[in-house]
Amino acid sequence: MTSLDALLSTKYPAKAHARRVAEGLKALGHSGGAIYLEAQKTRLIEDNDEPVPFRQRRPFFYLSGCLLPDSALIYNIKADQLTLFIPPISPDDVIWSGLPLSAAEALERYDVDNVRETTEVNATLADIATSNGNKSVAFAIAEQVSKGIKFEVFSETKLEVLKGVIEKTRVVKDSYEVALLRKANDISAKGHVEAVKASKTATNEREIEAAFIATCIANGAREMSYHPIVACGTNGATLHYGKNDENLIDPTTQRKKDNVLIDAGGEYRTYCADITRAFPLNGKFTPETRQIYEIVLQMQLECIEMLKEGVQWEDVHAYAHRIAIKGLLKLGILRGSEDELFDKRVSVAFFPHGLGHYLGMDTHDTGGNPNYEDTDTMFRYLRVRGRLPAGSVITVEPGIYFCRFIIEPYIKNPELQKYIDVDTLERYWAVGGIRIEDNIHITKNGYDNLTTAPKTLEEVESLAA
Ligand code: GLY
Ligand code: MN
Ligand code: MN
Repeated sequence: MTSLDALLSTKYPAKAHARRVAEGLKALGHSGGAIYLEAQKTRLIEDNDEPVPFRQRRPFFYLSGCLLPDSALIYNIKADQLTLFIPPISPDDVIWSGLPLSAAEALERYDVDNVRETTEVNATLADIATSNGNKSVAFAIAEQVSKGIKFEVFSETKLEVLKGVIEKTRVVKDSYEVALLRKANDISAKGHVEAVKASKTATNEREIEAAFIATCIANGAREMSYHPIVACGTNGATLHYGKNDENLIDPTTQRKKDNVLIDAGGEYRTYCADITRAFPLNGKFTPETRQIYEIVLQMQLECIEMLKEGVQWEDVHAYAHRIAIKGLLKLGILRGSEDELFDKRVSVAFFPHGLGHYLGMDTHDTGGNPNYEDTDTMFRYLRVRGRLPAGSVITVEPGIYFCRFIIEPYIKNPELQKYIDVDTLERYWAVGGIRIEDNIHITKNGYDNLTTAPKTLEEVESLAA
């Protein structure tokens, strides 16, 4: 067993998370009481008797480590007691689904102090309220409390603060969470390698997607962090392309298109990988794609080198733009001085999204404080604003895209058109887009790159050859 698997065979640290959330509430002046959270319910598809694909509620998982639907938890803050409530056995369900986890098995598996049945939630809430002289507060999430849950025994119920506190607490990951993210990355890296291999005989994007998903499932990541993006040729210019059903053969040349961008990650016990790679379909990148790949890789490597606790994310993002500008100037796609191009935000035409986002139980994880109303186009889609704390995990995913819909308005703009050389640009439309995305754990003095998928030009070309 690897040391990673050994760590992951221990319990998910739910109790430590409950304590940190209670501290977060206290720091905002809220003392309590009890924290109450519910798991996702089993739901049926409209007009059908099959269940909706199950996705555990993240706040509930964070304080329980439990993937069971229809469960609940209570954290008694003062007594420091975490109780998991599981559904009572229903004979009808056993006929179809077999015996569920017993309370004793659940106590063995999860980092909780007690396991009871969900029928005992109200009695437990009443006990906590009484033991605090009925003067304490219950915290829950407004839209995630079932009918029949009785908070009246508490002097106050706060339904608006808990969600925000959990989201903020989730930014800093403990070593167990980092291990889960590393595991999701290890599996997804295998998926990326198999996807490249599959491309050699594939005729359609969907065969490449299938190879990725099959590898993830076979290695323990049954769910995807998000729908994979498998974009051949100019489809790579669409940031969240999701059709994944185009032929790899160009109908006019009868040759395979130049390259594929694959942005895909598997989810391991609710923790997400989010990895992007680009590779050639004919063994070697075209000279133009190679030039763009080199710039994007330089953007990524230099930005990663800047990372450590306290770095201002906006500075890293702006630095990526500086490298893009220098590279595009050198290729002759841009004209003018680096500072002028930066100030006029011309590089946004080629790199229109943010450099990255927090990663955890959600692909676009909580706590980033983006400002989508920002009038500065360079920062509008930056999903993380401010300084990065040690323990956070963030994606670094610069890209350069040749998307007519985005670039043409710049070419038509009387003030900006002088900065773009349309004749040179003409040779690059076929590149589509190149993005390279890794998942980085921020530490006190630097960083730890969790992503192991092949990335250098040589590695990628030799894998694709
Ligand atoms: N896969 C979505 C993203 O990179 O943000
Ligand atoms: Mn991402
Ligand atoms: Mn991605």
